[in-house]
Amino acid sequence: MSAPSPAARDLIAKVDQRSALIGIVGLGYVGLPLAMEFAAAGFRVLGFDVDGRVVDGLNAGRSHVQDVPSAQLAVHVRAQRISATTTLSRLAEPDVVSICVPTPLSKTKDPDVSYVIAATDSVKAALRRGQLIVLESTTYPGTTRELMLPALSSTGLKVGTDFFLAFSPERVDPGNPKWNTHNTPKVVGGITDTCRDVAVAVYQAALERLVPVSSCEAAELVKILENTFRSVNIGLVNEMAIVCDKLGVDVWEVIEAAATKPFGFMKFTPGPGVGGHCIPLDPHYLAWKMRTLNYRTRFIELAGEINAEMPEYWVARVVDRLNERGKAARGSDILVLGVAYKKDIDDVRESPALDVIRLLAQRGASVRYHDPHVAALRADGVDLRSTPLTVESLRAADCVIIVTDHSDVDYGLVASASAAVVDTRHALPGKTRKA
Ligand SMILES: NC(=O)c1ccc[n+]([C@@H]2O[C@H](COP(=O)([O-])OP(=O)(O)OC[C@H]3O[C@@H](n4cnc5c(N)ncnc54)[C@H](O)[C@@H]3O)[C@@H](O)[C@H]2O)c1
Repeated sequence: MSAPSPAARDLIAKVDQRSALIGIVGLGYVGLPLAMEFAAAGFRVLGFDVDGRVVDGLNAGRSHVQDVPSAQLAVHVRAQRISATTTLSRLAEPDVVSICVPTPLSKTKDPDVSYVIAATDSVKAALRRGQLIVLESTTYPGTTRELMLPALSSTGLKVGTDFFLAFSPERVDPGNPKWNTHNTPKVVGGITDTCRDVAVAVYQAALERLVPVSSCEAAELVKILENTFRSVNIGLVNEMAIVCDKLGVDVWEVIEAAATKPFGFMKFTPGPGVGGHCIPLDPHYLAWKMRTLNYRTRFIELAGEINAEMPEYWVARVVDRLNERGKAARGSDILVLGVAYKKDIDDVRESPALDVIRLLAQRGASVRYHDPHVAALRADGVDLRSTPLTVESLRAADCVIIVTDHSDVDYGLVASASAAVVDTRHALPGKTRKA
C-alpha cells in the first residue's frame, strides 16, 4: 500500500472495525445487491435513491430486484443494517459512497451522463474529509477524472489526502445462479494509488476478490472491453446464422461442433439481437469517446449494426413460414414466446422482443406474447399482457416465434403444436433446426 494519509488510515480502521457507514446512490439492479453484500459483511448501509417508491419499498423490506429476495432484505432492514432515503443532503453521513446510477444513451446514441452529474453534484454538496467516493456506473474512459474530480475538488478538499475517488465497474449478471456480486472478481482503479488502495480495502471487506488496476481509465475501459467483446462475438455468430441459412447448413450443429475444440474457440450463440442495459449501450460510450479523438471504432459499429438488424431478419423468417402455408402476415395471429432480454429474468429493457413485436404489428399481424417472467409489457409503444401457454392458445396461433428461451417454458408443447415455429434460440427439443 502507498503511504496513506491520516484520513485514509482512519477510514481503513473504521472498515476493519465494521463501523464505517456505507452509502449507495442508486438502488437498482446494481446498487441493491451491493448494499446486501456490505450488510452481509456486517456494515450498516444507507441507500439513496430519487425514486420515493423504491425507498419506501426497501424500508418496508420489499425488494424490486429479482436477484435480491425480499425475505433476505427484510432481515437486514429489521436489524437496521439497511435503510434508504431520498434525502440526498444526508450524503455527509456515509464514510463510503458508491454511485450506481443509470448511464443510458441519448436519442442520437451519445452518452447521457446526466445521472452521473446529478449524483456527483449531490455528493459534492455534502463532501467531507475522510470519504471514499466510487463510481460504479458503466461509462467512457475519463468520466471519473474529467467529470467527477473537478467537481469534487472544487470543494477545496484534496483528492488522495482528504477524500478518495475511484472507479469500480459492476459486473452483475442478473439471473446467473453461479456468479453474483459477492464472488465475481471486482476491478478497481483510483485517481491516486492511495485512492485505489482505500477502495480495495473497503470492498475486500465485503467481496471475495479484488483486481486493482493502475488508473480509473483502465478500470473504465475494462468494463467496456468486456461488453464490446460480447457484442462483437454475438454479432459474429448472428452473421454466421444468416450465412448458414443461405447455405442450407444448421448453424447450431456448426457451433456445437466448433465448441469441441479445446483451445482457441469460445462458444457464443445467435439469437434475436441483444438487449439489456449493457451490451447494446456500453460500446457506444467508447465509440463516442473515440469520435472526440477522431477515431472510428469499426468493430463496435459493425457488431451494433448486425445485432440491431436481427429482429428484422427473424420477422422476415416469420413471413416466409406464413407464406409457405399460404398466409399473409396481415391478419395472422402470431405468438411471441419470451420477451425478457435474456433467459430466466424479468427485465425487458432494450429487449429485441419489443422490435419483433413492433415489426410484426407494422405488417398487420395480430401479436400476442407469453412470458412467465413478464406479466405485462408496456414499453416503447407496446402495451400487452402475457397470454397463457396452452394447447388452445397454440392452436389459435398461425406462427410462434421463440425470442427468449426461459428454462420454465414447455417447449415440448410448442413443438407438438400445428403452428409454424420460428426458433431464434434453439429452444425446441429434438429437431434439426431450420429457422
Ligand atoms: N443491470 C445490470 O445488469 C448492470 C450490470 C453491470 C453494470 N450496470 C451499470 O450500472 C449502472 C446502474 O444500472 P442499474 O441496472 O442498476 O440501473 P437501475 O435503473 O436499475 O437503477 C438505478 C437507480 O438509480 C436511481 N437514481 C437515478 N438518478 C439518481 C440520483 N441522482 N441520485 C440517486 N439515485 C438515482 C434510480 O431511481 C434507480 O433506482 C449503469 O451504469 C449500468 O450500465 C448494470
